[in-house]
Amino acid sequence: MSRDYQTQTPIAARVVEFIQESDAIFTLRLQLEDAAERARYQFMPGQFNMLYLFGVGEVPISIVSDPLDDDIIDHTVRVVGRVTRGLAQLKKGDRLGLRGPFGHGWPLALARDKDLLIVTGGLGCAPVVSAINYALKRPEHYRKLSIVQGVKHANDLIWQHRYDDWREREGVEVLLAADEAGPAWPFHVGRITELLDHVTTAYDNCVVMICGPEGLMQRAAELLLEKGVPPYSIYLSMERNMQCAVGHCGHCQLGADFICKDGPVFVYPDIRERLLQEGV
Ligand SMILES: Cc1cc2nc3c(=O)[nH]c(=O)nc-3n(C[C@H](O)[C@H](O)[C@H](O)COP(=O)(O)OP(=O)(O)OC[C@H]3O[C@@H](n4cnc5c(N)ncnc54)[C@H](O)[C@@H]3O)c2cc1C
Ligand code: FES
Repeated sequence: MSRDYQTQTPIAARVVEFIQESDAIFTLRLQLEDAAERARYQFMPGQFNMLYLFGVGEVPISIVSDPLDDDIIDHTVRVVGRVTRGLAQLKKGDRLGLRGPFGHGWPLALARDKDLLIVTGGLGCAPVVSAINYALKRPEHYRKLSIVQGVKHANDLIWQHRYDDWREREGVEVLLAADEAGPAWPFHVGRITELLDHVTTAYDNCVVMICGPEGLMQRAAELLLEKGVPPYSIYLSMERNMQCAVGHCGHCQLGADFICKDGPVFVYPDIRERLLQEGV
């Protein structure tokens, strides 16, 4: 009998590598222990897993690997509280539980043969990393890839080498901004939304994927509408505290939708009115 992998108790995964990306950010490279589970596990960029630290708790974390990579599933995590602090103590060989993948990912098929514009703010760029990796590995699918990343302080930027590498690729444009930066920062100083005036994407024939604080996502989406991006070409990835991840507990409710099951990726017009309303 087939199992419903998305609702059952977590399955065992093992840490095959732990990478410290910065003081508070680390990448967990996980492999499911059971060979049959490894064979059935499939995901799309933008989906997430529930990672369960035994005896501590469970948290939603985006998958940042490429779907066609080997059977190692990567998660990049920022330490904010109890569970993520515990995950940060894991070492190679340690075990944890994993449920997933959950939710709807990015519309990468819709973006095919168009320009792809990725806008990401703060440290919350994990949900778009696998979309970036996906597009970079399939350059023939997209006309142009523009990556716009903003951080509060220049020191917050992790993966500088990745941005340098991406910038060198044909058909890829990378624009970086920091609200505050020292003289050594060679990129824009100011708001990420200011960079949108400098992007060379074809606004009338692109798909946009935005991730970051909700205020930033809304400002970026409104600006892009003004620039002529069709409303149904703008997608956002939303975050809320989660428990069940399958639309039962109500923790992640956003109006009539559950972010775990109807999102986390939403098309902008569907959530525009609700985005910054309090109490939805
Ligand atoms: C779909 C989805 C994908 C995510 N992907 C990633 C990822 O790839 N990498 C990553 O580092 N984090 C990601 N997160 C956020 C991550 O799930 C939370 O940081 C984590 O649940 C915090 O758990 P904790 O026990 O460490 O902290 P807690 O002790 O639960 O919380 C510490 C503080 O953070 C706040 N907080 C907790 N969760 C969230 C949240 N989701 N949004 C806003 N504030 C929150 C709490 O209110 C509290 O103030 C994602 C969240 C969602 C919903
Ligand atoms: S986490 Fe339970 S309804 Fe979404």
